[in-house]
Amino acid sequence: MTPKRLHIAIQKSGRLAERSLDLIGSAGYRLTKSASDLAYSAENAPIDLWCLRDDDIPTFVADGVADLGIVGRNVLAERAAGGGNGLHEVMALGFGRCRLAIATPAGFDYRGPQSLRGLRIATTYPNLLKRFLAESGVDASIVIMRGAVEVAPRLKLADAICDLVSTGATLEANGLVAQTTVLQSEAVLVRATRSVDPELERVADSLLSRFRGVVASQGAKYVMMNAPSSALARITEILPGAGAPTVMTLAGREDLVAVHAVCQESVFWETLEALKEAGASAILVLPIEKMM
Ligand code: PRP
Ligand code: ZN
Repeated sequence: MTPKRLHIAIQKSGRLAERSLDLIGSAGYRLTKSASDLAYSAENAPIDLWCLRDDDIPTFVADGVADLGIVGRNVLAERAAGGGNGLHEVMALGFGRCRLAIATPAGFDYRGPQSLRGLRIATTYPNLLKRFLAESGVDASIVIMRGAVEVAPRLKLADAICDLVSTGATLEANGLVAQTTVLQSEAVLVRATRSVDPELERVADSLLSRFRGVVASQGAKYVMMNAPSSALARITEILPGAGAPTVMTLAGREDLVAVHAVCQESVFWETLEALKEAGASAILVLPIEKMM
């Protein structure tokens, strides 16, 4: 019997494709591409990747064809809003951030969802839009499209749109302005609610804990400095998301201590300036590669 392998569905192309591969690589899995370009195999773990269209990923995971999937929360939420089940979000992955938003032509006098009453709204997310309109108590018609939603107002196919906004460049290029946010999205790891083979469960557990480590270390920094012992309280306060720092004595110095801390949040120049002002010197900020 061939040993079992865990299957992960990822986006074939698009905004999440490359970052999904990066994440799996950062988690220590060495990947080899298949001849077809549509799959990868890990050399050092029983894990295979399948590259699929993002809209197909939830179905493949829910049906058990793949064990896990990496997909935008927007895709998962659209399926759930349409009554699709058998799936849940295991963890947010911290990349591919965007929002699903209502957008209107630039000159439109938008005063909240009420302004959409009686209008036609084009979208590729009809279930989420329908729920949003119902929750807002607004009657409007939904124009379902398969893509290129941003051109609908110009073609007079719709009065407004409901689409993903990331940088905002697509809206701007089409003379549209983002208004109310319908859903905040980012890449998420999904799995089926049904139970997985125990042998594969162990592989999945290890992958999940590695993913958590990679995601947690993103943006986190190891900060070291010398500081007057008298300023310790103030310095601990300034360090972003550090908890209790490690404090060490310095040889031959009664007045100074070395302070080491893991900062969970981004460390900006302003933070360093504030530390200096509080009396810190020889400040070093180091990247963290792994965290567990
Ligand atoms: C989305 C959306 C816009 C674009 C917005 O499509 O439909 O076209 O991204 O991004 P921007 O604000 O950075 O310009 P996406 O590339 O995710 O493809 P899909 O919706 O067809 O999967
Ligand atoms: Zn898509």
